Amino acid sequence: MPVQSEAIVGTAHSHQAWLNEAARDEFATPIVPRKISVFGLGYVGAVSLACLARDGHEMIGVDIDPSKLELLRRGQAPIVETGIQELMRAVVRGGSVTVTDCVRDAILATDLSFVCVGTPASSNGNQDLGAITRIAEQIGAVLPEKSTRHVIVIRSTVKPGTLDEVIQPAMERASGLKAGRDFSLCFQPEFLREGTSINDYDHPPITVVGTDDPQAGELLRSVFGHLPCEFVQTSVRTAEMLKYACNAFHAVKVTFANEIGRISQSVGVDPHEVMKLLCMDRQLNISPAYLRPGFAFGGSCLPKDLKALLYAAKSRDVEMPMLANVLPSNVAHIEHAIETVLASGKRSVGMIGLSFKSGTDDLRESPFVVMAERFIGKGLQLCIFDPEVHIARLIGANRRFIEESIPHIASLMTPDIETLIKNADVLVVAMKSPEVIEALQAHTRPDQLLLDIAVLPDRKAFQAHYQGMCW
Ligand SMILES: NC(=O)c1ccc[n+]([C@@H]2O[C@H](COP(=O)([O-])OP(=O)(O)OC[C@H]3O[C@@H](n4cnc5c(N)ncnc54)[C@H](O)[C@@H]3O)[C@@H](O)[C@H]2O)c1
Repeated sequence: MPVQSEAIVGTAHSHQAWLNEAARDEFATPIVPRKISVFGLGYVGAVSLACLARDGHEMIGVDIDPSKLELLRRGQAPIVETGIQELMRAVVRGGSVTVTDCVRDAILATDLSFVCVGTPASSNGNQDLGAITRIAEQIGAVLPEKSTRHVIVIRSTVKPGTLDEVIQPAMERASGLKAGRDFSLCFQPEFLREGTSINDYDHPPITVVGTDDPQAGELLRSVFGHLPCEFVQTSVRTAEMLKYACNAFHAVKVTFANEIGRISQSVGVDPHEVMKLLCMDRQLNISPAYLRPGFAFGGSCLPKDLKALLYAAKSRDVEMPMLANVLPSNVAHIEHAIETVLASGKRSVGMIGLSFKSGTDDLRESPFVVMAERFIGKGLQLCIFDPEVHIARLIGANRRFIEESIPHIASLMTPDIETLIKNADVLVVAMKSPEVIEALQAHTRPDQLLLDIAVLPDRKAFQAHYQGMCW
């Protein structure tokens, strides 16, 4: 049974026959009609303006470009996008969209504003925040005239920290008001793609709202909560970073598929077949596996096979710059851990875990062995605990590698975790078995540094100064 009844959408627009299909889901949060302004009527702004009007909101669009405003007044969309002309014509004719170049009029007539102005790259690659800072100041200057608490949502892509460090100060300076007390400022990353933007608007992968203001979060839920995806509220900086992480990930995916394509072509393999089969693995490939920040990769397969693939490419004159930089990036990660320990100035290191991952005694290509060797090379006192490796040494599995290739490391191993913890100034923790957690909780001290490279649970239970590997 459709929940999206006339009573919920509001009678002003109840004649609209183009209601979002997703909004008819009977479990969705009902839309509450709002008065909304959109600043910047490019791809993101124009699509938002039209779709929000279609969903029953009263919309005002603002842009500095008079030709865009003129087109919109005539019911024409200022962008080329599938379905946008028809939708824009319908919502403008239906009376739910007006446009202006006056920031003051738009802010005074609405309760919620979306900022969608461009944030292009400057010549040095940095983000040009000129337009968004100007609009923040213009909006800020009008806020003291409002008797209600205005909610401003930044939808332009901005680097992490931009709201806190640039946009909020600009608004507060211009208004003399305080964000979070007198007005709300949020960040909501936009995930639509040009070409399919109306469909993407209606079927986003996720709705993420960055705010610590519960009222603003609820307001946005009443605008977007009907969409067929999860609605997640997080911190502003997380939401800002997420947009970059998503775009970087997409760029990496495209480049990966193309590099696999080039090497496949050179060895006479159909890359489409390879990638189709790769995507069929939903356990390790198309899944959250390997997508959690942690420590460097190692072991007997990944480094070896990556090297062999790169050699095959090189011998066929195939360029694979991204894959060629994976091993150097992995080394940089190991170096980051080593530098953290060295920078602490502490001289006695206790390593907990030595094999490349928990549950194995395999030490080949273990990044922890690389770390251990660097600590020894720097003259630090080192002691290592790893029950799996210790047993391997005693019963012979992997024994040859331990005894022959890393005897200098083998001699530093101890089965006594309690003494190791007590004697160390720095603990490098790469295991999180119950035995390890219990020992850390019982024996660490405030003067120790604990470098977590295993993503340990319950960090507050340790007495040592905690530092995450990259978190
Ligand atoms: N295009 C996309 O597919 C897409 C997707 C996700 C996020 N984004 C991000 O959204 C933002 C907007 O992207 P876009 O592609 O819509 O940009 P765009 O360049 O198409 O449109 C920006 C609009 O802002 C207007 N503008 C500039 N200064 C203004 C001001 N002071 N007041 C009012 N309007 C002003 C411009 O005239 C223009 O119409 C960017 O940060 C972009 O990175 C874009």
